[in-house]
Amino acid sequence: MKDLQFKRHRRLRQSAFMRDLVREYHVSTDDLIYPLFIVEGAEKLRNPISSMPGVEQISLDLLPAEIDELLQLGIKAVLLFGVPNEKDAVGSGAYHTHGIIQEATRVIKQYAPEMLVIADTCLCEYTDHGHCGVISNGDVLNDESLELLVKTAVRQAEAGADIIAPSNMMDGFVTAIRHGLDEAGFHHVPIMSYAVKYASAFYGPFREAADSAPQFGDRKTYQMDPANRREALREAASDIEEGADFLIVKPSMVYLDVLSDVRREFNVPVVAYHVSGEFSMVKAAAQNGWIDEKQIVLETHTAFKRAGADLIITYFAKDIARWLRG
Ligand code: PBG
Repeated sequence: MKDLQFKRHRRLRQSAFMRDLVREYHVSTDDLIYPLFIVEGAEKLRNPISSMPGVEQISLDLLPAEIDELLQLGIKAVLLFGVPNEKDAVGSGAYHTHGIIQEATRVIKQYAPEMLVIADTCLCEYTDHGHCGVISNGDVLNDESLELLVKTAVRQAEAGADIIAPSNMMDGFVTAIRHGLDEAGFHHVPIMSYAVKYASAFYGPFREAADSAPQFGDRKTYQMDPANRREALREAASDIEEGADFLIVKPSMVYLDVLSDVRREFNVPVVAYHVSGEFSMVKAAAQNGWIDEKQIVLETHTAFKRAGADLIITYFAKDIARWLRG
C-alpha cells in the first residue's frame, strides 16, 4: 500500500464532534412552517385525518392552545387551510370577510401577534366542484378566477395575514395579487408564490384533509407536468418578475433537481413543500416498523436544505422541533 496515492476523506468523519464541525447543512426550527386545517362552525373539534396519522382538522376555539404548543416548540410560522361549512360554484367562502381563514387569522394574531400567519390563497376548498377557479364548459377560467383570488388575498391581509401564499396556479396570479394588495394599502405584505407546483399524485391525502378533491377531471390544465424541469424555471421567472417574494417548489422529495435549479437561478428565499403523500408514505412505513422515522425525517429535511431550500413547509414540523431539542 506504500506507493498508492489517494485522498483520506475519512479524516473528517472520525468522530461525532469532527462530523459536527464539518457539517454543511442544518435543519433548524427557524426553517419550519406548519400547516393547519381549520374547520368552520364547529367547537372543540379535533378530527383526525385517517390518511395522515397525527394530523388533525381543528376548530377555531382550539387554535390558541395549538399556537401555544407551536411557540413552545420554537415554530414561528403556520400555513392556514380552511374547511368551510358551505361550498358553491364560485368559492364565496374564500373571500368572505368572515371566511374561516380570515377568522382563524384574527384569532391567532390576537392571541399571539408574533406568530407568522401564512394564508394559502386558493379556491378549491371553497368550490363545490373542487377546482381552484371558476368553471365554464368544464374548463377552469384564468382571468375570471384571478379576480376572486385577489379578493381572497385582500380579505386575508385585512384579517392580519403576514404572508399571502397563492396556490391555484392561474397565470398572472402574482401580479394580480400584488396589484390588489398594493391598492388596498398592503404594500408590506409579501407574496410566497407556489411558483413551481406540479400536478402530483402526492397531494392525495391533503384532499381528504382539506376536502378539496376535484369532482371531475384533474388539475393538469393548470398545475405543471411532472415530466418538465426547464418549465419550472419559466414559471419561477415570471413569478419573480410579477413580484413574488418567496418561491415554493412542490412536492419536494422527488423534485430535488427542480429545487436545486430554482435555488441556483434566483436569489429570493426558496421554500420546499413536503406534501401530504410524502408525509403519509413515511408515516406508514414507520408505523409498520420498516424504517426509523426520526432518522428518515431528519435525513429528508436535511436533503431539502442541501438541495437549496431555505424554508420547509412540513407536517413533521412538531416532531422535528422535538427531536432537535433532544
Ligand atoms: C390547494 C393546495 C393543495 C395542496 C396545497 N394547496 C392541493 C392541490 O393542489 O390539489 C397540497 C398540499 C399537500 O398535499 O400537502 N390548491
